[in-house]
Amino acid sequence: IKRLGVLTGGGDAPGLNPAIRGVFYKAVELGYEVIGIKDGWKGLLEKETIVLSKADVDSALTKGGTILGSSRTNPYKREGGKEIAYENFKELGLSGLIAIGGEDTLGVAGQLVRDYQLPINGVPKTIDFDVPETDFTLGFFTALEVTTDILERLQDTAKSHHRVMVLEVMGRHAGWLGLFTAVAGGADYVLVPEKKADIEELIAKTKRALSDKGFAVVVVSEGAVLDESMLKDRPVDEFGHVQLGGMGEVVAQFLEKSLNTEVKCVILGHAQRGGKPSVIDRILPQLQALKAVEWLDKGQTGVLAAYKEGTIKPVDLTLVVGKNRPLPESLIDDFGVFFKG
Ligand code: F6P
Repeated sequence: IKRLGVLTGGGDAPGLNPAIRGVFYKAVELGYEVIGIKDGWKGLLEKETIVLSKADVDSALTKGGTILGSSRTNPYKREGGKEIAYENFKELGLSGLIAIGGEDTLGVAGQLVRDYQLPINGVPKTIDFDVPETDFTLGFFTALEVTTDILERLQDTAKSHHRVMVLEVMGRHAGWLGLFTAVAGGADYVLVPEKKADIEELIAKTKRALSDKGFAVVVVSEGAVLDESMLKDRPVDEFGHVQLGGMGEVVAQFLEKSLNTEVKCVILGHAQRGGKPSVIDRILPQLQALKAVEWLDKGQTGVLAAYKEGTIKPVDLTLVVGKNRPLPESLIDDFGVFFKG
């Protein structure tokens, strides 16, 4: 019997379960038994697996998280890890594997294809939306619904108390979630990793919002690049390292001093990764997953099921490895109209 493995790696995201379901249905149609590998690459290193059933994947379709579990284990960062991954792949009798994950998980998939010619395909995932070569990563739009909803709620309370509030959202390397939250919810300003903070504009825009409507809300990506002057007077630890705290906190404290008014900061954290996948995070991941299986079965491996120009296309995994997809400058410029001082 042909056996297909499936794993989910890295930070979880709503839409992983639909992707697993897509893998399952296509694989079964093509005559495979489907083996779930637990907790990402960790499960391959430890041979922790489960046989997936139709009931498992059907009942998970509308659920957040991943029924397979996840981890950030990277076999290439462990002594002898890649050799164990290869041996276990063979010992488990896998004829192929679908890796659903972000930069790191897909990177491992690409390296295993390169080093051992293993038949592996990938499906892109991350709420950060920053996997290169694809215009869609599962999890992003559901997370955006959450962050936008929270932004709206903060506006209610900021308005009542005539306050400035800062909302920090995820996005280590890219500001998709930050910028889109700010645009969707009507924030007064946004700080992203792709563009260094312009403190004069930030202060001007916040002041203007305060005087025009009596409150202001600023969105900050966790990986925002701040101006050095904002990092002045930060607490220093025993080794002389500046204690940053979250970027949202730094911005809130900076605004507090600059405007001489109380500023509250909300760090949304992992709540933005949970919850039911939105409809788009159910439909596209299932389509991407079943294409990844179909291609693997036909012998086309080492590819990512990317979403480009309205269709699912195979993209060589090596084009994705070690890269990021930053916000395009033109998009920052276009939306910049909402954040002018
Ligand atoms: O990569 C996705 C992401 O959500 C980042 O935005 C965030 O920095 C990170 O995961 C948090 O990961 P962890 O779950 O390991 O704290």
